[in-house]
Amino acid sequence: MLKPSNRAEAHLLEQLDLTRLPRNVAIIMDGNGRWAERRHLPRVAGHRAGVRTAREVIESSARLGIEALTLYAFSVENWRRPQAEVEFLMRLLREYLRKELPVIHKNNIRLLVIGRGSQLPAAVQKDLDDAMKLTGGNTGMKLVVALNYGGRAELVDAFNAILREKREAGAIADGVDEQSISAHLYTAGLPDPDLLVRTSGEMRVSNFLLWQIAYAEIYVTETLWPDFHRVKLLEALIEYQRRERRYGGLGPGAKAARHPSNAPVE
Ligand code: IPE
Ligand code: IPE
Ligand code: MG
Repeated sequence: MLKPSNRAEAHLLEQLDLTRLPRNVAIIMDGNGRWAERRHLPRVAGHRAGVRTAREVIESSARLGIEALTLYAFSVENWRRPQAEVEFLMRLLREYLRKELPVIHKNNIRLLVIGRGSQLPAAVQKDLDDAMKLTGGNTGMKLVVALNYGGRAELVDAFNAILREKREAGAIADGVDEQSISAHLYTAGLPDPDLLVRTSGEMRVSNFLLWQIAYAEIYVTETLWPDFHRVKLLEALIEYQRRERRYGGLGPGAKAARHPSNAPVE
């Protein structure tokens, strides 16, 4: 259960319907650099502040009872940044795991990592493997961290895995379907995001979960990631609950036509 720590949080919590939470909340945690620049601090100070926010959002989401929280931490494109920044981010990740893993484990959270893990520094890979093993049996929220992640890379990896399996089974001529593509993504077995949050105002998806966000509700806020405190998370969830999800139909209440393949022949 989430206990509000001030009146603003209590007021927002009252408005939230805990029975209709998104199953998977995906977040593009953007704006650390700008947060630091505004304070005349080095960019890395923004990343440090971003980790504090991540901790708060993870804990709040788990307490609310959200099934999965998917955080975009490092993209395949982020290697284009200065080496010193990349190295700092990798160090910060290890430091985060060292400090926070006991808390994550205690809160029954299961850590999962998506992305091309084999290209991460060996020490990072080892820490992540250990963390996933430690929390593998936990039954609470799934914390999915996207590291060296790219949506296109994920699709390429999925198609190659499918081709390999078919080749090995001698079934080269078979086609693919949506179920088999979903089942070969890094996110196999996880619900698709219902809500995609992007902080710091950029109106783009930056190669995040391209397949999985087909029908996600998108919420872009001007708030920079280090300022995305619990109140901001609650606001995003309330806004999500105001949306009418239609999936191409006319929404609840409207009578659905029959699927063309089931339509009676005239
Ligand atoms: C997001 O913040 C963190 C990562 C991509 C690792 P940025 O570092 O992209 O911050 P801005 O966009 O430059 O403000
Ligand atoms: C997206 O942010 C990647 C992460 C949050 C990890 P970027 O800052 O890298 O995205 P662009 O470059 O503005 O599209
Ligand atoms: Mg950015």
